[in-house]
Amino acid sequence: MSLSEPRPTLDLAALDDAALLHWVWNRLAAAADTPEDSMHLHVLATTAEGGGPDARLMVLRGASEVQGAIWYHADAASTKIRQMQADPAACVVVYDAPTDLQLRLRGTASIVTSDEEIRAHWHHIRAIVQQLRHDTGEAPPHDLRLEALNRSDHDPAWQPDHFAVIQIHPNTIDVLSPQNGAPRRRRLTVEHQHSRDDAH
Ligand SMILES: Cc1cc2nc3c(=O)[nH]c(=O)nc-3n(C[C@H](O)[C@H](O)[C@H](O)COP(=O)(O)O)c2cc1C
Repeated sequence: MSLSEPRPTLDLAALDDAALLHWVWNRLAAAADTPEDSMHLHVLATTAEGGGPDARLMVLRGASEVQGAIWYHADAASTKIRQMQADPAACVVVYDAPTDLQLRLRGTASIVTSDEEIRAHWHHIRAIVQQLRHDTGEAPPHDLRLEALNRSDHDPAWQPDHFAVIQIHPNTIDVLSPQNGAPRRRRLTVEHQHSRDDAH
């Protein structure tokens, strides 16, 4: 290893797939609530309505190993929401700076429809914005000033019309690690609750 090469803080070889998957979910969950975490910002790719790829930066808003899901917030009228309704296939890439690992998640996107879940996300994000304003005394960073959020940020009333929660269920998670210049890939398969139930 040369001096300029980043030293991974994770011994991938020592982790079996279940342990690595558990580590990935924990990292995602922690990054969702930490704006300065390198895994807080994701590239979310979808299929454009006329066909072909489309992608954009998104802020990770939550992750749950138990639910096998990650969440993003968006404007309900945005292009990405329309794209996902037409084609739920989604791919996410994200970089974990401390370990120099890239993750690629491939799976299915859906828009959360339960009022209770949407409200929980809404209250969570409002609390984070208020905390950041309190901590810094400045406007929160770009990732917390979404148009959808701004519209109702000054209005305590619930405004579900602009606010949408995107849920991604990854089927596979690729962990890409640098190995002497050639990236090495570990493919992890995510077993979802319903398939576990079916198996019983
Ligand atoms: C740093 C950064 C973070 C962003 N986070 C979000 C986000 O969490 N949700 C969102 O809807 N758009 C976010 N955006 C804007 C999107 O990247 C995108 O430009 C916008 O949502 C429109 O995308 P669409 O036309 O594909 O729907 C972010 C942009 C930047 C630069």
